[in-house]
Amino acid sequence: MGEARLANKVAVITGGGNGIGRATALRFSEEGASVVVADIQEDKAAETSQMIADTGGQAASIRVDVTSGADNEKMADLAVDSFGGLDCLVTAAGVSHANYVSGDIEPDIKNIVTNRADYLDRPGWEFVEGDPEEFDKVLAVNLKGTLLGMQACVARMLESETKGSVVTVASIAAKHPDAGPVAYTTSKAGVWMLTKKVARMLGPVGIRVNCIGPGFINTHMTAVIDLMDETETAEFNNMIPLGRRGEPIEIANAALFLCSDESSYFTGEILHPDGGFFTE
Ligand SMILES: NC(=O)c1ccc[n+]([C@@H]2O[C@H](COP(=O)([O-])OP(=O)(O)OC[C@H]3O[C@@H](n4cnc5c(N)ncnc54)[C@H](O)[C@@H]3O)[C@@H](O)[C@H]2O)c1
Repeated sequence: MGEARLANKVAVITGGGNGIGRATALRFSEEGASVVVADIQEDKAAETSQMIADTGGQAASIRVDVTSGADNEKMADLAVDSFGGLDCLVTAAGVSHANYVSGDIEPDIKNIVTNRADYLDRPGWEFVEGDPEEFDKVLAVNLKGTLLGMQACVARMLESETKGSVVTVASIAAKHPDAGPVAYTTSKAGVWMLTKKVARMLGPVGIRVNCIGPGFINTHMTAVIDLMDETETAEFNNMIPLGRRGEPIEIANAALFLCSDESSYFTGEILHPDGGFFTE
């Protein structure tokens, strides 16, 4: 067996309490990384950390609201204080709409299913009547949260002259307007541009910055899809050439590639693990 792909590396994962972030934390630990698991759901972050400890890995967890600069600073400090450095950041914290709470499907039903149905016979008004404050909230978590996480963690990399790797999580919604509500798609397009911009700014110091734009992945965020009837589910799956939603581990593996030295010539790039959605 070769050496673990993230041996001696320290990784910070936002949104590490659930879904893609949790799968990434576990996968990185398997490959030898020490992991800081950050999430607004403190108990879920602690649970991920415990799962890592149970398999003999190294992890620490912390409650972080990614919209807070101070929280992001504490998260970066925890990596350096607990594990002596900071090599990788994966920004997997995110919301699909302003009232999103990971693991609680009720607000999803209201925001995504009921609201949309209300506008079926009033085309155009869903856009005009959209609440700008809800727009701010989604942008604050998905876009500004990504910026703040990068600023805090990259500062530690610069201080220690670490040629680290940053992986942001956008979505196919960064490029495809049908893959989410207006604030979500706009925020993800922003994450993708932010990634490209920061990659160019940090290239000269050898810090790589890449993005993952997943298709539809089996997490709390897409649980609402399971409420569709059989015919609708079949139609949905037929949109995807591989005929199914992806699993969080399939995104974690892409993050692993982007954080390992195997991707040493990638920066400012986006990978789309999406079952072929874009190739239709
Ligand atoms: N599931 C999909 O189909 C899919 C597709 C494309 C992109 N994504 C993106 O992947 C990322 C992870 O989503 P997921 O599908 O694993 O959903 P998830 O709900 O399982 O995970 C999201 C995590 O982010 C945390 N979070 C939310 N707001 C936060 C905040 N303010 N501060 C800190 N943590 C916060 C949640 O508590 C949760 O643990 C998100 O950015 C999402 O937009 C998901």
